[in-house]
Amino acid sequence: MKSPPQTQQFVQWFRQAAPYVHAFGGRTFVIAFPGEMAAEGGFAGFVHDMNLLAALDIRLVVVHGARPQIDAELKAKRLRSRFAKGVRITDANALVAVKHAAGVLRVEIEALLSQGLPNSPMAGAEIRVASGNFITAQPIGVVDGIDFQFSGTVRKVDAVGIARRLEAGDVVLIPHIGYSPTGEVFNLSWEDVAENVAIALKADKLLMYTDRLPADGKGEPLAEITAREAEALAKKARLTPTEKHVLRSALRALAAGVKRVHFVARKADGATLLELFTHAGVGTMLTADAVEQLRPARIDDVGGLLALIRPLEADGSLVKRSRERLEAEIGNFHVIDHDGVIVGCAALYPFPGERSAEFACLAVAPAYRDAGYGERLLRACEEQALSMRIKRLFALTTRAAHWFVSQGFVPTDIKALPAQKQALYNWKRNSKVFTKPLR
Ligand SMILES: CC(C)(COP(=O)(O)OP(=O)(O)OC[C@H]1O[C@@H](n2cnc3c(N)ncnc32)[C@H](O)[C@@H]1OP(=O)(O)O)[C@@H](O)C(=O)NCCC(=O)NCCS
Repeated sequence: MKSPPQTQQFVQWFRQAAPYVHAFGGRTFVIAFPGEMAAEGGFAGFVHDMNLLAALDIRLVVVHGARPQIDAELKAKRLRSRFAKGVRITDANALVAVKHAAGVLRVEIEALLSQGLPNSPMAGAEIRVASGNFITAQPIGVVDGIDFQFSGTVRKVDAVGIARRLEAGDVVLIPHIGYSPTGEVFNLSWEDVAENVAIALKADKLLMYTDRLPADGKGEPLAEITAREAEALAKKARLTPTEKHVLRSALRALAAGVKRVHFVARKADGATLLELFTHAGVGTMLTADAVEQLRPARIDDVGGLLALIRPLEADGSLVKRSRERLEAEIGNFHVIDHDGVIVGCAALYPFPGERSAEFACLAVAPAYRDAGYGERLLRACEEQALSMRIKRLFALTTRAAHWFVSQGFVPTDIKALPAQKQALYNWKRNSKVFTKPLR
């Protein structure tokens, strides 16, 4: 019996999430967001998503800010803060508002994480939230003649204390507040707390929620940004001081060993789940500058391509291609360039009439195998095919059948190939035919 499309979609999505569930269990994620997130609609949904992460055995540390809440309290008292370099100058009045805002937010977040009514996303959750004096702070002090008073920076993070709470299965909630050994309270930026907590815990992921995602020249959000690109962006005037602050904290966290930093658009419903559990994601991942680069091939890559594929043609793994053919078809190729050496390649040959494309000439240099390069080349070709509205890929292989199966391809009959391709099929080579539907 065929189930309705909605059910099929659900089943397919749930299955797709399985590798992520395996990969994330026992990992440490720092989820850091500004106070705006708690002040606007959709916050309950966001907290439900955190509950789901906790249920998957992810060690969860939640860091939050409270700028709008502090402003609202000051406004109610007809007071205003002064800011310098994008940072609040926390005077004695503002410090009272800071303490109140942090207290109220803590209670609100704890209340949301304590829900557990039957038939709600939180049923059976029984989450314990641990909060406390995990952050030691120091005053910013006087900069360029401006005394920042009770505005501080992180001096030390009690990573052992946090880890103990995580071991016990608690969600750890850390506000934008730190304490000094003299017993003073300091107002910190959530970005500073998030960066230092993620570094101290050697977090596997740091998720930072922002108003806008890093974008390309046309304003399109970027799925990935390298550290070098992020540095360049942080120097641009069109970013707000907060956005620059977020970028710089993220860059320092990455440089200090946090494995992955993601920027997530704070207003998009379910963005946390989409970013973490789908391949394409919806946010921007910050990556270290890679010495190797996956990019479309250029005509001057032909020499490097030939050096890579000739031995594989000789042993029968790949079909022979002449230099002239390679030059003519260079536009179909993607390559992995490792410091100027071509160490991987793959080609996509579209059959637009049949909404299909051949994924071909996949090769990775022996010294670079088993490091996911083959998979990355496939992904790049899949993205290209999707942008051409292609519905399925097919591939012919003599030696790598199991690799294709592990990448979601299924064996199929020669008759399933586009007619033009069938006519060219080389019976002597007797390749196996595989196909893979695209999303
Ligand atoms: C097939 C090939 C491109 C894979 O490249 P890769 O970068 O090593 O692939 P990935 O890192 O994405 O995948 C590695 C996994 O695939 C497996 N794998 C690699 N080649 C395989 C093959 N020929 N058959 C079955 N499994 C294979 C590895 O054992 C590894 O498995 P693991 O993750 O369980 O350890 C590479 O082995 C190659 O260049 N082979 C020769 C050329 C060829 O046969 N191309 C296909 C022609 S269409």
